[in-house]
Amino acid sequence: MKRKCILAIVLAAILFVCAAAGEAAQDQSEWWKRTIAYEIYVKSFKDSDGDGIGDLQGIISELDHLQSLGVGAVWLTPCYVSPQADNGYDIADYYNIDPAYGTMADMETLIAEAGKRDIRIVMDLVFNHTSCENEWFTESRSGLDNGKSDWYIWADPKENGSAPNNWRSIFGGSAWEYDETRGQYYLHTFLPEQPDLNWANPEVREALINVARFWVEKGVGGFRLDAITYIKKPAEMSDGEPDASDGTVGIHAMTANTAGILDYLREFKAAVQEGTDIFTVGEANGVSAEELPEWVGAEGVFDMVFEFSHVVIDLPDEMNWCETREWSLPDFKALFAASQEATKQVSGWYPIFLENHDQPRSINHFLPAGADRVAGGKALAALLLTMRGTPFIMEGEELGFVNVAWPSIEEYDDVSTRNHYWFAVGEGYSAEEALAGVHRFARDSSRTPMQWDNSENAGFTTGTPWLPVYEDYGTYNAAAERENPDSILNWYISLAGLRREHSELITGDYQELFHENEQIFAYIRENEKAKAVVLINFSLEPAAYDAAVLEGAELLLGTGAGEKGILAPLEAAIYEVKD
Ligand code: NOJ
Ligand code: MG
Repeated sequence: MKRKCILAIVLAAILFVCAAAGEAAQDQSEWWKRTIAYEIYVKSFKDSDGDGIGDLQGIISELDHLQSLGVGAVWLTPCYVSPQADNGYDIADYYNIDPAYGTMADMETLIAEAGKRDIRIVMDLVFNHTSCENEWFTESRSGLDNGKSDWYIWADPKENGSAPNNWRSIFGGSAWEYDETRGQYYLHTFLPEQPDLNWANPEVREALINVARFWVEKGVGGFRLDAITYIKKPAEMSDGEPDASDGTVGIHAMTANTAGILDYLREFKAAVQEGTDIFTVGEANGVSAEELPEWVGAEGVFDMVFEFSHVVIDLPDEMNWCETREWSLPDFKALFAASQEATKQVSGWYPIFLENHDQPRSINHFLPAGADRVAGGKALAALLLTMRGTPFIMEGEELGFVNVAWPSIEEYDDVSTRNHYWFAVGEGYSAEEALAGVHRFARDSSRTPMQWDNSENAGFTTGTPWLPVYEDYGTYNAAAERENPDSILNWYISLAGLRREHSELITGDYQELFHENEQIFAYIRENEKAKAVVLINFSLEPAAYDAAVLEGAELLLGTGAGEKGILAPLEAAIYEVKD
């Protein structure tokens, strides 16, 4: 009997050690599940040389800021050689850094310096298209018969000489551009300066795989795959049902997520990712929550996919910024629940985001008008940092940045914002209505320079910033917020610490509470070790709830009094339930 007992103890001990070793191995290979990601809009983060443009040396000088937030992965918007028609999303040379941002040596230093702080660099791979100044395109457009003639999507004009079909690019205007030399049109999902690559050509896929491998060898920790849902075009590229008064149809409806796209991405994953510890996150506009199981998880093509349903909750037509849609908090919660459920089905992972460089600031986007900025920024941060998945913080979000509202369209830099404005005017909206749409959705709002301190130009540059620094930098800047214990920045830092110490906030299940409640976003995060309850009041009124859910619970972190059963306006509270 005694011997049996000892045997059982020994066996249990062995099992325990194996399980712990397994967990440790998993920890290492899936480091990106346990960390916090941060998006840097390189042009706007920190300028080191006074030219008004953020750069790699600037980023190196501010790594401590990222480290204090518990960031382990930094997604850099494209910093390759580019004519900057779309701020770097038009790449002329995938193998070199744009001189405005620095050199390859700077990039190597950045990877090394970040590495010392356990931060991995994540590169943005823009593979749906290149710049029209990329030498691949220069060769392709040089005639009908050259080594790269089939590397882009070329088509003959219609009989009357017009574009091959009525597709409208995502930034407005025809998706086709005529080329004199070839006597043909080429397709561009975005700007005419961004010709689409032809992924059907295996040589193109190989060239792109080589680019990605080059960066893996440089030591990056992952990739964000830009506009990836558009890479496969349908076999038939005929006219679509018009959705605008000029007879065009948005290209998104015609090409997003075309059947067969996953074959290309499986090939990419096998060639680039296998045997490495990098992660991938795809920008997958056009993939619905129901489709997520095909994209993520062990059998999927990416580790994570940015799914957009919650950021367009108020926008029925992405081209028309003048029409908005009413939404309620239960609608918002349902969208998160759907993505959570879908990724869970395949043990997949989710990138939590409320902002990025294409989206409005979340305080304006998701909170009622008139919301207190500090309380609101904290409420949103509570969601961002406690939901299941890897949080992606957009630079400035941790300081509570809000949308800019410049008085005329000429002041906006972003080409897409300008095009949206003129599209609205073309559809018959007044200049005032079109500008109101710009104030709601302009991409410039998330691209204004980072605010480091209250010195001139917020410490972003000693020169003239490429985009104006927002006027509120005297109050909302990193230095001032670091000093203030009640700041949004310090709340982010506290939440990041909480995440590190409470594994249920990382590996725990997600279970929504009080779904019908119009004011409170609440959920349980529970793993085998612990159970946390998160409660966030999204409204400007006090919100009551049934406190039974908090029986035996202790407040871990909160923005208010933490009184059970009631939340003050915009209050966020995180409890631990002790059984
Ligand atoms: C998505 C990027 O996030 C956006 O900024 C860019 O303009 C388009 N893709 C085109 O690359
Ligand atoms: Mg600079």
